[in-house]
Amino acid sequence: MDTIQLTEALIRGRQSKRGFLDRPVPMETLREILSVAKYAPSSSNTQPWRCYVLTGEARAKIVDAAVDAYRASPETLAPEYPFFPKELPAPYSSRFNTFRGMLGDAQGVARSDIVGRRRDVERQFRFFDAPVGLIFTMDRRLEWASFLCYGCFLQNIMLAARAGGLDTCPQQIWSLQSEVLRAGLGIPEGEMVVAGMSLGYADNSMPENNMALHKLELDEFVSFVDH
Ligand SMILES: Cc1cc2nc3c(=O)[nH]c(=O)nc-3n(C[C@H](O)[C@H](O)[C@H](O)COP(=O)(O)O)c2cc1C
Repeated sequence: MDTIQLTEALIRGRQSKRGFLDRPVPMETLREILSVAKYAPSSSNTQPWRCYVLTGEARAKIVDAAVDAYRASPETLAPEYPFFPKELPAPYSSRFNTFRGMLGDAQGVARSDIVGRRRDVERQFRFFDAPVGLIFTMDRRLEWASFLCYGCFLQNIMLAARAGGLDTCPQQIWSLQSEVLRAGLGIPEGEMVVAGMSLGYADNSMPENNMALHKLELDEFVSFVDH
């Protein structure tokens, strides 16, 4: 394979996984992934990222507290920043609904099945059983541009993980758990919880780990301009 083919294989080989094997990830591997991910570009090299790596007992404590908080108050947990507008406009709403439908079908949970859907949200807060949970925060004083930088950093982590045979699921839903994370990890008020990420060896026998999501054709999102 030439470099382009290798890159394509790496990029397309990354898919969000929502079920993991009970197989530990060596600490050295985690250090390697984050050591390479830090070479992500950022506006004027500001490097706005801050990452908490949860494994073992620390991960278990956060998971328990997050699941308890969700069970106690499933409707009132609020994210630290808006995820979507109140009414998601077309065409995003149909892409959103298609994705949610596919995920629900794969997990065997209908949209009307409140209990099943709550159980699946709980799985989010269990890091989908992944042995490693990552929590990402950012200085609250920063602006939108730093979110762009953050995306580059997160993608680097996901690709570096993939290169090492690992899988991931980025999870903005963890921003709903800022109180639990602040208390459990000592995250200062000045840091906003941007997202979390599950990381481990995917259980590819699970239907939700085998979804073939539709991606746009080139002409649908690119305008080549030459005159
Ligand atoms: C910034 C960001 C936040 C996300 N948050 C969540 C999340 O909270 N929970 C989840 O299950 N997936 C989450 N995802 C994964 C998306 O659902 C997924 O990327 C999308 O459906 C496309 O699938 P793919 O990653 O397999 O290409 C997130 C992805 C991104 C980029």
